[in-house]
Amino acid sequence: MTVVSTRGATLTEGRADFPADFVWGAATASYQIEGAAKEDGRGLSIWDTFSGTPGKVAGGDTGDVACDHYFRYADDVRLMSDLGLAAYRFSVAWPRIQADGTGLVNSRGLDFYSRLVDKLLEAGITPYVTLYHWDLPQALEDAGGWPERDTAYRFADYARAVHARLGDRVQHWTTLNEPWVAAFLGYGNGVHAPGRREPAAAFRAAHHLLLGHGLAARALREAGAEEIGLALNLSPVITPAQVGDPAAVASIEDAEAVGRIDTLLTRQFLDPALRGEYPAELLAMIERNGGLAHIRDGDLEIINQPIEVIGINYYNPCVVESGPGQAADEAWPGSEDVRFCSVDDVPATAMGWPIVPNGLSRLLVRLADDYPEAGLVITENGAAFEDVVEDGRVHDVGRTGYLDNHLRAVHAAIADGADVRGYLVWSLLDNFEWAYGYGRRFGIVHVDFDTQRRLFKDSALWYREVIKQNGLRGN
Ligand code: FCB
Repeated sequence: MTVVSTRGATLTEGRADFPADFVWGAATASYQIEGAAKEDGRGLSIWDTFSGTPGKVAGGDTGDVACDHYFRYADDVRLMSDLGLAAYRFSVAWPRIQADGTGLVNSRGLDFYSRLVDKLLEAGITPYVTLYHWDLPQALEDAGGWPERDTAYRFADYARAVHARLGDRVQHWTTLNEPWVAAFLGYGNGVHAPGRREPAAAFRAAHHLLLGHGLAARALREAGAEEIGLALNLSPVITPAQVGDPAAVASIEDAEAVGRIDTLLTRQFLDPALRGEYPAELLAMIERNGGLAHIRDGDLEIINQPIEVIGINYYNPCVVESGPGQAADEAWPGSEDVRFCSVDDVPATAMGWPIVPNGLSRLLVRLADDYPEAGLVITENGAAFEDVVEDGRVHDVGRTGYLDNHLRAVHAAIADGADVRGYLVWSLLDNFEWAYGYGRRFGIVHVDFDTQRRLFKDSALWYREVIKQNGLRGN
């Protein structure tokens, strides 16, 4: 039986064929792979400071060397080419372009990304550039960081400078990666750089990140960018019963908890970016946490720029229920009376993240319904497992299974009508996993951090086949 559905996504006897124009790729981020922390005039970022502060990152790991990609980018592009990638998503380190986040543009920093873009294009790989994947110049944090309005304007200047150099060759632009994480882990629970724990500052940071997105998107558009996107960490927010049974009906109390967390995670970003408004319920939460004075007249119009793509970073669902008397979680100011639930009855990755592929279908279909203004690209999806190198191989069946099941979930969402245009696996390389340091490996390519040797894991060989077939074989 063949089911032909939207945009030519077909399913035949367990085979999942993707639309002919579907884009297959992989993603990384500057601080996680580049190393070369002091090279060619790069300034300090908040992640240099944070990882250099004892107790902040597991094992005292830093991104000083990471995958040494700054010097090995040509070899890494060769790996991508061997895998048959059509697209590569990377981020630009702001402190390489402006050491202090403002003023003079450092052409040596831009040269690196220009060389990388040329290598990619030579290999037939389309560059997808993310402008902010969390490495804020430390000097801007010293001036107050994202909770300060001026940072948004500095970000737009920086975006303009990067576009001026790469815009002749790069058409796919993402302004921000996961502003929720930057705001609420950076300034809310302090697990990420800069490590502040101030609920009011976290909300201000979120607004200024969005303002920076709007200002940068406008600048990129004026400069001729064809495709602009915003990458968010998105999860369906569900009750414990819905993990196993997506159709389970939530009680009124649980539905209220779900709605509130979804407002903080999803609507806080997509409603202003795509519709030019904040949900009333969100404004009430912000008001209780430091007030609304930082949201000025006209800001929502700036934030509401037309964009082509919502970038989706999906790893696992967010599971909550009503929890009368619970204090707000530090990463979720406004979440009083909500309990965040651990999920014990499904397998988990080495991060402890439950593996729930149908959560991705649910998320994609919901986004397609609620935000039809933009197309969808999976800008990150992947998993950490305890990899073992044996005779020059890494038999990472767990990761391959995770990716296979999530791709089937993407396929199901396309068949249900969601406009999903591409899939970028997280990550090409094992890398610096933020507060976990090098202790968590997400790569489809294994990196030996002592020798910098790269090795395709079995998942990479499997992914190469998926790309070649434009889909999944029957199972
Ligand atoms: C996302 C980040 C990415 C990586 C994955 C595992 O939140 O965007 O850099 O760390 O998680």
